[in-house]
Amino acid sequence: MSTQNYVSLLGRQPELSIAELEQVFGHVTPLSDIAATYKSTVRPDVQRLGGSIKLGEIVAEFEPQEWSRLSKRIARYYADRLSSFEGKVTIGISVYGRKVSPRDVQRTGLALKTALKQNSVSMRLIPNDDSALSTATSHHNKLGLSPNKIELLIVYAKDVVLVAESLGTQNITALAARDQARPKTDAFVGMLPPKLALMMINLSGVKEGRILDPFCGTGVVLQEAALLGFNVYGTDLSEKMVDYSNANMQWLSEKFSLGDVNVEAGDAVEHTWQKPIDAVVAETYLGQPFSAPPSPDKLDKVVKVVDVIVSKFLSNIHDQLEPGTPLCLAVPAWRSATGWFTYLPVIKKLESLGYEWQVLKQVDTTKLTYYREDQVVARQLLILKRSS
Ligand SMILES: C[S@@+](CC[C@H](N)C(=O)[O-])C[C@H]1O[C@@H](n2cnc3c(N)ncnc32)[C@H](O)[C@@H]1O
Repeated sequence: MSTQNYVSLLGRQPELSIAELEQVFGHVTPLSDIAATYKSTVRPDVQRLGGSIKLGEIVAEFEPQEWSRLSKRIARYYADRLSSFEGKVTIGISVYGRKVSPRDVQRTGLALKTALKQNSVSMRLIPNDDSALSTATSHHNKLGLSPNKIELLIVYAKDVVLVAESLGTQNITALAARDQARPKTDAFVGMLPPKLALMMINLSGVKEGRILDPFCGTGVVLQEAALLGFNVYGTDLSEKMVDYSNANMQWLSEKFSLGDVNVEAGDAVEHTWQKPIDAVVAETYLGQPFSAPPSPDKLDKVVKVVDVIVSKFLSNIHDQLEPGTPLCLAVPAWRSATGWFTYLPVIKKLESLGYEWQVLKQVDTTKLTYYREDQVVARQLLILKRSS
């Protein structure tokens, strides 16, 4: 199959989305904070990426220019491209990276509709009240999922304007359903968003085989990894969590065909896992939840408790992993009222414990933290491999 060029619209934390794309496709070119391009011989699937909101195949490139001029060229280009289209075509237009009024975007669509009509092609334009269609609208209209439902992604970058045809939008409904409809959830253990779990699996760089989550909790990583086609293996200190993970995986297996699933009780600081382990992806113990920044004394205590567990776990599992085995771990980092982070001391000792950071071209992997503004406990993402 020939190589094509694709563009992804990036998530809320673009550096994470870019790192994910680099791990999955082997390279990526960031265009701005909102988009990045890459090449692939296989058609990328937005549902397999946690950090891309929409993605599309690049069909044309223009020099940066005013919307009034560009929109005419795009309408002409598409009127030609679709001139012999059979049946009715639905088109949505989304502009990114430049302020263009929704009205002007709509006008472009109407100009295209008129041009197509002259060639006897009938077109339905998706109405928009923003310059880009929301993911909900794109998804609801199934844009990008069949040849007669097109979403044009028009992405302004510094030196180029890309026109891409969407291949789909992140399915927020399915992600939310996987999160909320699972039979077992536990607010105290934490709620790893499925999107982040998906991103972590991709960030590890694992391509196939069996993924271990030694802090599996209710099983969000196991669930996302199984849906990607991996065999999964979860362990947790708590019998209750083992039951929860098992129940959730059972529920998932009634809807999808999954590979091998294995969940057992085990203390990550001393457990012996069964082989093979092709990657370790886990949200470790995060310490107690906080709704406001804790006092320095309290913080100190929590940091110590978590640091001991994570250090001992890394020492314990080291000899059980083949050299080069990838890991992606979410560990806690605590945000102060002024936005400073307190990180786990073990981060400075990873090399002496026998791990190295995976190196990416576009992103500094030692500085990736996932958080929301209102969170005290953020998650630092460690993208590592066992040293040889
Ligand atoms: C933040 S939660 C992970 C939640 C998980 N990502 C999920 O999908 O529900 C951390 C988990 O680590 C477990 N845990 C704490 N200490 C542990 C240890 N020493 N060994 C194994 N599991 C441990 C807890 O029982 C809890 O389920």
